[in-house]
Amino acid sequence: MNAIDQISNSQRNAAQRSAPKTVAVVGATGAVGLEFLTCLAERNFPIKQLKLLASKRSAGKVLSFKGQDIVVEELTEHSFHGVDIALFSAGGDISKQYAPIAVKAGCVVVDNSSAFRMTDGVPLVVPEINPEAVAAHNGIIANPNCSTIIAMTPLWPIHKVNPLRRVTAATYQAASRAGAAAMAELEDSTRAYLDGQEYAPKVLPHPYAFNLFSHNSKIDPQTGYNDEEAKMTRESRKIFGVPDLRVSATCVRVPVLRAHAVAITFECERPIGWQTVRHIIADAPGVQLVDDREHNLFPMPRDASHQDDILVGRIRQDLSDPTGHSVSLFVAGDQLLKGAALNAVQIAELL
Ligand code: A2P
Repeated sequence: MNAIDQISNSQRNAAQRSAPKTVAVVGATGAVGLEFLTCLAERNFPIKQLKLLASKRSAGKVLSFKGQDIVVEELTEHSFHGVDIALFSAGGDISKQYAPIAVKAGCVVVDNSSAFRMTDGVPLVVPEINPEAVAAHNGIIANPNCSTIIAMTPLWPIHKVNPLRRVTAATYQAASRAGAAAMAELEDSTRAYLDGQEYAPKVLPHPYAFNLFSHNSKIDPQTGYNDEEAKMTRESRKIFGVPDLRVSATCVRVPVLRAHAVAITFECERPIGWQTVRHIIADAPGVQLVDDREHNLFPMPRDASHQDDILVGRIRQDLSDPTGHSVSLFVAGDQLLKGAALNAVQIAELL
């Protein structure tokens, strides 16, 4: 049994031992919301009652959980009475409006939006990295940005052995990060392209089929970094507890449905060989080594999709650093699972 199995099993056992909870899923009909249901079911989270909440548009819709039909309710100020844990993934504005209401009603919120991630007193947690941070919550625990989770989970065990000084990353981000409608847009626009038909983008700002483009978040005019890139820097610092960690990212959206890939080069405090990194990754929780030079087999979004583990490979010395402090690698992780729903459910298990 590897370390992640041990962590998952001990978390799962603890979850099973604890009293069943009333759990609410806010944004239950969305891309991440539906994955919450899968993760809660597959991990046998101890549930007394499950409330599915979404917008008025979805009220009355029926979703299935463990073979049971549950009717989706409209999210209102009164939705949280008697709820122990609420998993939020309906966007930052909904979190800002309703998470404080949920906390007031006595509920612990695990929030997948960016609304509270950098707020003092709100732990930002990746269970493989900083599980102890959960204990300091004041009602809200934030789930980090998906690219940050997928890039930084494999770097943590390396950082513990030989502290990181600097990280550069280039992301290849999937449609799911922009929600179910963006995933549909990728499929519909690809079909239209192959049929030789015009397709006007509705969700994303540029044609998506057979194309890629810089992440469509707001760009800081001073630095030139977009918001997704800035999140990777500041969230990595908070999760690692290293306020001056040097991180520079380039975030790009690629026509892939649900798994992000990231090309990473990192520099450590002391010299480090690629073989050492390979050994560390082979034993680390939440990651899986896919690094077969002979067969040119490395992490691919297709293989990472629907997988809990982040795939890690292309581990090699960064030859542009003759001091031997730097290594490059390539990772792929399911954006909807470890990048969002799975990480949030693991946090709920820690509770
Ligand atoms: P709905 O399906 O009713 O619009 P995604 O990230 O895939 O776009 O999903 C967003 C989720 O957030 C959906 O479940 C969506 O519900 C939900 N949502 C959006 N707006 C609201 C709102 N005003 N109140 C409650 N849930 C909302």
